[in-house]
Amino acid sequence: MEKVVIFDTTLRDGEQSPGASLDTQKKIEIARQLSSLGVDVIEAGFPISSPGDFAAVKLVAKSVRRPIICALARAIKKDIDAAHRALSSARRKRIHVFLATSKIHMRYKLKKAKEEILRETFDSVKYARRFSSDVEFSPEDASRSEKEFIYRVVETAIKAGAKTINIPDTVGYAIPEEFGRLIRDIRENVANIDKAVLSVHCHNDLGLGVANSLAAVASGAGQVECTVNGLGERAGNASMEEIVMALKTRKDFLNKTTGIKTEEIYKTSRLVSKLTGIMVQPNKAIVGQNAFRHEAGIHQDGILKRRTTYEIIRPKDIGLEMTGGLVLGKHSGRHAFSERLKKLGFHLTPSQINTLFFERFKKLADKKKEVFDDDLIAIVEEEISLIPKIWQLVNLKVISGNKITPQATVTLKSRGKRTTKTSSGDGPVDACYKAIDKITGIKGKLLDYSIQAVTRGKDALGEVRLLVRAKGKEISGHSSRTDIIEASACAYLDAVNKLLYRK
Ligand code: KIV
Ligand code: ZN
Repeated sequence: MEKVVIFDTTLRDGEQSPGASLDTQKKIEIARQLSSLGVDVIEAGFPISSPGDFAAVKLVAKSVRRPIICALARAIKKDIDAAHRALSSARRKRIHVFLATSKIHMRYKLKKAKEEILRETFDSVKYARRFSSDVEFSPEDASRSEKEFIYRVVETAIKAGAKTINIPDTVGYAIPEEFGRLIRDIRENVANIDKAVLSVHCHNDLGLGVANSLAAVASGAGQVECTVNGLGERAGNASMEEIVMALKTRKDFLNKTTGIKTEEIYKTSRLVSKLTGIMVQPNKAIVGQNAFRHEAGIHQDGILKRRTTYEIIRPKDIGLEMTGGLVLGKHSGRHAFSERLKKLGFHLTPSQINTLFFERFKKLADKKKEVFDDDLIAIVEEEISLIPKIWQLVNLKVISGNKITPQATVTLKSRGKRTTKTSSGDGPVDACYKAIDKITGIKGKLLDYSIQAVTRGKDALGEVRLLVRAKGKEISGHSSRTDIIEASACAYLDAVNKLLYRK
């Protein structure tokens, strides 16, 4: 079976999702997980675009050694130079050069004629080849470009030394049958196409990113570019987990395989969601929280008789333990707890396990009848955060009702010293945040706030994600607790601690 190369661009195109800015530390964490997941290529960033992006690509190139590390560049020398410098310590590197080829881009954006585009394609690829034998070229907006022109551009790029030709559906305009035909036509009409791997990069503006990618694979594309959770510009990019699981589940039809360790998919999805602050919609294929839940009586009956009546993927194939719901409870011991964490892919030190067990798990199990895997993932992710807990919540008392002004009394601890303040507010959460502001002396403005149940049931953990503006910076915060006001306060403190840590 032929292997499809998985080119992950979560750290580059995915990071272009509005509100998904990732700092270097987060990028490294994601890149390491992408490596464990088994992606073949990591597009780590666009080095010329900002010093932060440059630094992130440089660090990923230095510390993530298995996959090829790729950096993006326009077809301009200074971009290619920056990509080359950022990739200097990569074990295996790729420079990805792009240049638009559609009439609309050439005329209005670039103000360049076809001959100039051909010349720049050749010169930029040739220039990039000075620094790496692995050069990828993308004719941007290919799906809206004239086919005859694409053939010439692709042939030129390969002549100049491109080893991968990526065909982007930049604005998510293509329809699967049409896009599959484009890939076939390129294969049939470009004389030297056998000297390069043909890749695709599909956006999701019409919700067809994955369908177009699969149509391209069926027509002979050997690489797909995609992102975890389908993150990306506008409606996002083709989702990595959907493409990989479609190839695995329907190998009978598509006859292709990938090098992805699918058991790492769920963990990767959670990590990306946590670090970007972008939640996964509940009904999202593969990694949405409802993806393996059955509500209808007829379906439940079918599942109990034979799982495959209504399930085409085993949850454990994406690393999701579904042990009939109940995972751990208040009678569970530390051993069972640490074994479960190992199974979920967390390899923690004995002291981390101790802290988690006594300070988080025991308290949670007392409040909650059932502790599910998702509960555990949420508390572990929060507890092993690299951000030092400069301010910690000690006590929280809230008085609220429909006929009174909500009031919160908060006690925080910092470096052993406790401080208590009271404040009123528009609601209990607002009152809490005002009391916290009084204690920390940092005035935060809440820009975004969302709350979601991590698992089912009235006693589920509430997961709060928020975005705060304070001291001219926008910072995300995250926390999960059974008490949603407490979760709100801890998420706010998470943002405050991040702000202080960055300073
Ligand atoms: O969508 C696009 O065209 C891109 C290119 C840079 C490959 O992201
Ligand atoms: Zn893109």
